[in-house]
Amino acid sequence: MEKPTPNALTASAMATLLGGMALLASAGASAASMVEEGKQIAEDRRKGNCLACHAMGDGQLPGNIGPPLVAMKARFPDESALRAQIADATQKNPNTMMPPFGRHNVLTDEEIDKITAYVHTL
Ligand code: HEC
Repeated sequence: MEKPTPNALTASAMATLLGGMALLASAGASAASMVEEGKQIAEDRRKGNCLACHAMGDGQLPGNIGPPLVAMKARFPDESALRAQIADATQKNPNTMMPPFGRHNVLTDEEIDKITAYVHTL
């Protein structure tokens, strides 16, 4: 009996489909891990240390020098405005107590992106 030839078209279609699914899954995972990493950096006392001044999510022992970070999507519909506030709060208010994390290189651009992703979920 002759062996059936493998259907090359089906095999390659399958590979494309599986590849696409893996890509989708990793995109979803990376968005979730952005937020998760952002939360960690924001809460880290040697990094964002946002809890020193802000109530933020379920973070423990928050200070109250700054306003609680709640309803962030409503207050910052434009995520880039939120990012600008976190990167350099002195742009909006030169006398603010909030450190200009980006300008002073306390946080890297990547860390600020992650914190922004997290804070925008609050
Ligand atoms: C030393 C205190 C301090 C720290 C640390 C601090 N902030 Fe602030 N933050 C403030 C103050 C005070 C304000 C009020 C606005 C102003 O002063 O101009 C503010 C305002 C904000 C606002 C605007 C809130 C609104 O509704 O207008 C956001 C968002 C924010 N901070 C996020 C952060 C994040 C994220 C971190 C950590 C990376 C952080 N802050 C760290 C003091 C701080």
